Amino acid sequence: MSKVLILNGPNLSKLGSREPDVYGTVDYTQLVGDLTAFGVNLGLETDIRQTNDEAELISWIHEAYENKYSVVLNPAAFTHYSYALRDACAMLTKSGLKLIEVHISNPHAREEFRQTSVISGVATGVIAGFGLDSYRLALTQLAS
Ligand code: DQA
Repeated sequence: MSKVLILNGPNLSKLGSREPDVYGTVDYTQLVGDLTAFGVNLGLETDIRQTNDEAELISWIHEAYENKYSVVLNPAAFTHYSYALRDACAMLTKSGLKLIEVHISNPHAREEFRQTSVISGVATGVIAGFGLDSYRLALTQLAS
């Protein structure tokens, strides 16, 4: 089974209660359970994590790079300004590994500051605006 890290940035642990009009009512624990089962059906081993810490998120990208794991990344607010995270993602994708940037909402339809992603230019692909299905679409692509 090939392994995929599903990495989530700041505030995503609050899914379900945080701005449910934007991010829905399914909580983070449920998301982890659903994606784990979804991955198994696709023949993927998933390792799903969340952090509010930029350094920790970058160290997980390093771990994926060293172990040749694919990554599904919701960088959350780091999307819009973390050049350090971008550099880590570039290292991964330029080595031939896949990294799919996902967003629950469609940042392009929201505030102006969300319309810039410093990650997209070094991601393998971007999926946004499909709610939690954005993660499922990314896993489906990685399994194909
Ligand atoms: C998000 C969009 C970001 O702009 C925001 O900061 C998030 C979540 C999304 O999944 O829609 O925390 O990445």
